[in-house]
Amino acid sequence: MKIKSAEFVMSNSDVAKCPKHLIPEYAFIGRSNVGKSSLINMLTSRKSLAKTSGRPGKTQLINHFIINKNWFLVDLPGYGYACVSKSSKKTFQKFITNYFEQRQQLVSAFVLVDIRHKPQPIDLEFMQYLGESEIPFSIIFTKADKLKPKAIENYVNDYCQELLEFWEELPNYFVTSSSKTIGKDELLDFIGDTNTE
Ligand code: GTP
Ligand code: MG
Repeated sequence: MKIKSAEFVMSNSDVAKCPKHLIPEYAFIGRSNVGKSSLINMLTSRKSLAKTSGRPGKTQLINHFIINKNWFLVDLPGYGYACVSKSSKKTFQKFITNYFEQRQQLVSAFVLVDIRHKPQPIDLEFMQYLGESEIPFSIIFTKADKLKPKAIENYVNDYCQELLEFWEELPNYFVTSSSKTIGKDELLDFIGDTNTE
């Protein structure tokens, strides 16, 4: 799929105020600083469509972008932000879980994972939550430019091995780098193939 147009629509903290259009929607979620907003800019070839930052916690709201005038791409705030207290760290912000439970038009979520870090309990828990809620998702390994090809292969194999302890089947996964534009065509083709509009 080619992206011909990408426009910001609105930001919300309340899922009830998100766009009402029943067009296919794809959402990007993951820990703070994992590279969600950067990936959206890479996919859309727009330098600063989604706001990025070296400091975690940049994206605080549910951000809708309309792509090719017929599907939504959604940038979500990160979970597990290191500055929140330990006891609340594992609590996913309520408006994020509301988002996943209420957006009927959501075709698929993408759970982003930093390729330099071992499987994190919070990510595995979030995937578990999506599975239990019957929300389709794929995994996106980010920042692949930080590892050599062999290390990427080993990392992905180890991660999948860990997932197989919880899951009978592996979800789709993608290896990406926003700074080196890796994985763009694969992701856009996946979206194009699952988007029935
Ligand atoms: P929050 O909105 O805070 O949850 O963060 P986010 O997940 O949207 O991350 P963001 O895209 O803002 O990127 C966080 C940091 O990671 C920035 O300093 C980016 O430049 C860097 N980054 C993002 N993607 C990549 C990548 O593919 N490679 C490298 N090397 N750095 C990246
Ligand atoms: Mg962000």
